[in-house]
Amino acid sequence: MPAPAPGRGPTSGGELGGRQGVGARLRPHPALSGAHRVVCVGLPKVPVITKVSQDGSTMRIGILGTGGMATTLGGAWVRAGHDVLVGGRDRAAAQATAGRIGAAGHGTLADAAAYGDVVLAAVPADVAPELVKGVADVLGGRTVIDCTNPVVPTDDGLMLSTGGTTSIALRMAEAAPDAHVVKAFNLCHDSIWTLPRPAFEGAPLAVPYCGDDPGALDRTAALITSMGCTPIPCGGLARAVYVEATAALAIGIWMNGAEPRFAFPVPMAAPGTPAS
Ligand SMILES: NC(=O)c1ccc[n+]([C@@H]2O[C@H](COP(=O)([O-])OP(=O)(O)OC[C@H]3O[C@@H](n4cnc5c(N)ncnc54)[C@H](OP(=O)(O)O)[C@@H]3O)[C@@H](O)[C@H]2O)c1
Repeated sequence: MPAPAPGRGPTSGGELGGRQGVGARLRPHPALSGAHRVVCVGLPKVPVITKVSQDGSTMRIGILGTGGMATTLGGAWVRAGHDVLVGGRDRAAAQATAGRIGAAGHGTLADAAAYGDVVLAAVPADVAPELVKGVADVLGGRTVIDCTNPVVPTDDGLMLSTGGTTSIALRMAEAAPDAHVVKAFNLCHDSIWTLPRPAFEGAPLAVPYCGDDPGALDRTAALITSMGCTPIPCGGLARAVYVEATAALAIGIWMNGAEPRFAFPVPMAAPGTPAS
């Protein structure tokens, strides 16, 4: 997993838990830096828009939220050639975010829910299920991507606010039963999506995703591919709890100044296995 960017100042947050809730209390360790360092004040900086359709298939994507993930993921999708509509409870914020990323439009949360073949929930985790419940009627049949991280700081370190027995993605699916919920895009810091085609150590960024509807999974894989990344299918939505737990573990490790990705070498890298 790519390292997160360093902190962005006292008020901006920018952590994988979002700027609200846990975001205000989390700070990446100062030792974290590197080639992909992005220093931002306020919301993330996004590259100049140059729309490049990767495979010729344009998707309509509605985004619920106007913050960091809406800005950077939305910007990446615009650059990949997709039509994005940013929806927020604050129309002025939606307009500003849409303008920053060159989105096709902006509007209310309901407008964004109704716009997309794909709808991204880019709001605090504890808000997401109730939010999709409010627009459940228009989400029917659509692919709803959940990028949230339900993490809270505790005396024992970073923990899942869900208790780890369920996931926000499952709660969203229960709240909007006719929507096709997919868990994806929650493992990377939002700054990573400002990179034109994220690649690390010679390999395109891998994006794990899971869900139950085959069409929604295909659409998510196509979306990931259109950004120049590699989709990693992780099974059904029941496994979203593991994707969320992975984020909680990784963020906690980052906060302690270490690199979780170095804990996952490929088995083939070890020549001295008993079988060899
Ligand atoms: N930032 C990261 O690096 C990162 C990485 C991976 C996953 N995530 C996850 O992605 C999600 C969004 O993170 P973010 O960094 O984009 O957060 P953010 O910058 O704080 O933006 C949150 C957005 O949610 C909206 N919102 C908050 N409460 C709401 C409510 N009750 N109803 C409707 N909208 C509401 C906010 O609107 P207002 O402006 O009106 O308050 C804002 O537009 C979080 O769940 C986070 O865990 C973040």
